Parts: sequence; C-alpha cells; structure tokens
Amino acid sequence: MSSHPDLVAAAVAASSRAYAPYSHYFVGAALRGDNGKIYSGANVENASYGLCICAERAAIIAAVLDGVRTIEAIAVATSTSPPAAPCGMCRQTIAEFAREAALILTNDRGERLDMKLSELLPHAFHREDIK
Ligand code: THU
Repeated sequence: MSSHPDLVAAAVAASSRAYAPYSHYFVGAALRGDNGKIYSGANVENASYGLCICAERAAIIAAVLDGVRTIEAIAVATSTSPPAAPCGMCRQTIAEFAREAALILTNDRGERLDMKLSELLPHAFHREDIK
C-alpha cells in the first residue's frame, strides 16, 4: 500500500472542518489504523493560543480512543505549496504509534509528497528510552 488515495481525500475533506479563526490556516489529517479504519481530524484553535490542537493529534486521539495502537499511514492536507510537514510535537505523537508509518503531505491543489516518519524525525524518543 503506497498510494492511499482514500486517506488523501479524507485529509482534504477534514481540512474544511478546521476551526481556525486566528491563523486562518486550515489543516486536515487522516490516518489508517491497524483495524483498517480511517480516522480524521482538523486543527481546533482557541483564543488562548497555546490551547490550539493540531489536525494530526486530533486524528490520533480519535483513533486511540477507538482502540487503535498502530498507525499504518497518515495524510496531512493544507492549502500551502509545497505541502507542509507536521510540527515537531505532532511528529513525536505520530512516533508513539508508528515507527515506519507512511506520511503523505498534500494540499488542495493535488500536490503530494510521500515520506517516512523516520525521515522527518530521526532518533525519535521511544518507550525503550525510559529506563
Ligand atoms: N497546525 C496543525 O494543525 N498541524 C501542524 O502540524 C502544524 C500546525 C495548526 C495549528 C494552528 O491551528 C495552525 O496550524 C497554525 O499554526
């Protein structure tokens, strides 16, 4: 599985549901869990800026609450070109549930960048580092 067109479509659709009245930067994310289901999320901002939650972590929380413990692939959609990569906090959150997940960065123009999480976050912090 390398193309994941359903994830790309779900991420773009989720971006239209973002709540981003402060940044006006709409982000959508969609992931496939180890149960084969798709979970999506969008960024949700707050007047207290530090409380903003990113699309990727919103999708991951939805998946984890449904019992998912492994992410097979995750797509992130923005409106920027080139497609933007997940922030550092989201990279580490993805790493908790996916060592080698396929990452698809896309935008509403259909541009697409495929990469592995390990390229974006080499030497991630993992559970075995807690000794
Ligand atoms: N944002 C995401 O949703 N994902 C990221 O990986 C980076 C940033 C959101 C947070 C905030 O609502 C807006 O983009 C601007 O930073």
